[in-house]
Amino acid sequence: MSAWKKHEVFEKNSFVLLIGILIVVAIGGLVEIAPLFYLKSTIEKTEGMRPYTPLELTGRNIFIREGCYTCHSQMIRPMRDELERYGHYSLAAESMYDHPFQWGSKRTGPDLARVGGKYSDDWHVEHLKDPRSLVPASIMPGYPFLAENRLSTRDIQADLSVNAFLGTPYTQEQIDNAAADLMGQARPDTDAAYEFEERWPTAKIRTFDGNLKDVTEMDALVAYLQVLGTMVDFSIYDDKANAR
Ligand code: HEC
Repeated sequence: MSAWKKHEVFEKNSFVLLIGILIVVAIGGLVEIAPLFYLKSTIEKTEGMRPYTPLELTGRNIFIREGCYTCHSQMIRPMRDELERYGHYSLAAESMYDHPFQWGSKRTGPDLARVGGKYSDDWHVEHLKDPRSLVPASIMPGYPFLAENRLSTRDIQADLSVNAFLGTPYTQEQIDNAAADLMGQARPDTDAAYEFEERWPTAKIRTFDGNLKDVTEMDALVAYLQVLGTMVDFSIYDDKANAR
């Protein structure tokens, strides 16, 4: 009986009860949060994921600069309608090198998390220049100037360094050669392209904008769109899931 009496302190005094609640919640919070600081990564290691190449990273910066995320998400949720429309749901590992991530919260246009390889480079170039020439009812704005703006190599090395600082595993060699690799990926059959290939064996080398002469913002944005959702080979994981 006397133990119950002591409990009255909490029940009859809301301020004491509040302090009691705070202490209990703080202990619960610490138990959940503290271990996370001692883990190297909370993201499951996933085969195929690599950091963005300098050209793809530049494309990502243009995606952010132009506000594409205000109409497009990059996050496929594990629900049937989404899986049937877009493919495998997004994994945490797929945005682990995105600083900041581009999950978005608005879908005026379709989700872009797996748009890579869905269309040809030519389709993207035409669509970005004039969306209504391919999709007559589209309300997406055109970005024809991207094909005119030549890429600057000025900031790319610093950009890779900052990403490395944030935990993206760029090698020192990749950082030192960022400016050359930015151009090399969009100039097939040049010395720069061969050197690029040595540092980035799994990346694609093409004239993404269809223009051999200049490396433009269009090259970068199309290179980025074409790599979205293509790094992880889901046949490996789905086979494992089926075997269970
Ligand atoms: C005002 C909203 C809006 C903005 C801003 C916008 N889009 Fe779109 N986008 C759409 C709509 C709507 C569609 C669907 C119609 C179409 O295909 O044009 C679309 C379609 C697309 C598609 C085809 C997707 C598919 O699976 O068929 C791509 C790729 C795309 N947008 C990329 C971009 C990029 C890159 C940017 C930024 C440079 C951008 N969009 C900016 C609204 C927008």
